[in-house]
Amino acid sequence: MHQPVLLKEVLDYLAPHSGGVYMDGCLGAGGYAEAILEAANPDGILFGFDIDQESIHIVTKRLEHYGERFRCRHAGYHEALSTLDSIGIGQLDGIVLDLGLSSDQLENPDRGFSFRSVGPLDMRFDRSTEESAEDLLKNVSEAELRRIISEYGEEPRARKIAQWLKQSLKKGTLRSTEDLAEVVMRALGRKKGRIHPATRVFQALRIAVNDELGNLKKGLEQLPTLLKQQGRLCIVSYHSLEDRMVKLAFKELARDKVKWRILTPRPLRASFEEINLNPRSRSAKLRVIEFL
Ligand SMILES: C[S@@+](CC[C@H](N)C(=O)[O-])C[C@H]1O[C@@H](n2cnc3c(N)ncnc32)[C@H](O)[C@@H]1O
Repeated sequence: MHQPVLLKEVLDYLAPHSGGVYMDGCLGAGGYAEAILEAANPDGILFGFDIDQESIHIVTKRLEHYGERFRCRHAGYHEALSTLDSIGIGQLDGIVLDLGLSSDQLENPDRGFSFRSVGPLDMRFDRSTEESAEDLLKNVSEAELRRIISEYGEEPRARKIAQWLKQSLKKGTLRSTEDLAEVVMRALGRKKGRIHPATRVFQALRIAVNDELGNLKKGLEQLPTLLKQQGRLCIVSYHSLEDRMVKLAFKELARDKVKWRILTPRPLRASFEEINLNPRSRSAKLRVIEFL
């Protein structure tokens, strides 16, 4: 099961308490959600969101014993404003987003997120949406594919990789995650090292398929408006572009010193102990802002 990252740090900042109303915008396996409900005993409430129907299914089961204290929706955190409004919820004591994908998603071959297993070129968090990674690869131009790989994957050899991918699509030899990893390796003329050469390409395609940066932009516009006084917004990100967006959005809010205070002038990182136990936490950065 997915191991929550920076959990203690998130709880320290969110400081859930009885009577409080909280939102977890990225439920995943429900690790944060459960810890928040425990800390907000006996009557704190948590609203959960995830765009992955499987996550909603798993977490609903995991947390059903909290009864009415836990409610969730198969929806994006970037739609929270209208969703919460439609059920009459106004202001929140705290919001947390743990961006990206869970290890449960990554490790499920059917989902197509990993080059470590053979699976379809899917990569959608929300399988009710239309465009999978395969569709995206077919629909975008070579120039756009190059931009995606270069920007979202921070891959210096994006041009060559985009060329090879488009050629393989034409030949019909790019159908699975295994094919994708193989084509990238051949394009780069490299063998597998400590980090697989296709890591950045998989990351880039996943970000594009799920419009992760577009959603974060919407979330950063909407979520601050949902906070009560002394309410806190905690965001854990794993990608430098996401962290930069969070940093800039918080900075912009904090220009109004009367209303906002950044609680993490530098982002919090996982300890060596946590990184040893859970290598996934290596790239995590937590930023927190408070509505005064
Ligand atoms: C890193 S996991 C969260 C793990 C969780 N904190 C836990 O302890 O189990 C990220 C989750 O966010 C979901 N997600 C990604 N983008 C989303 C969005 N825009 N709205 C809601 N959920 C999203 C993914 O489907 C995934 O389940």
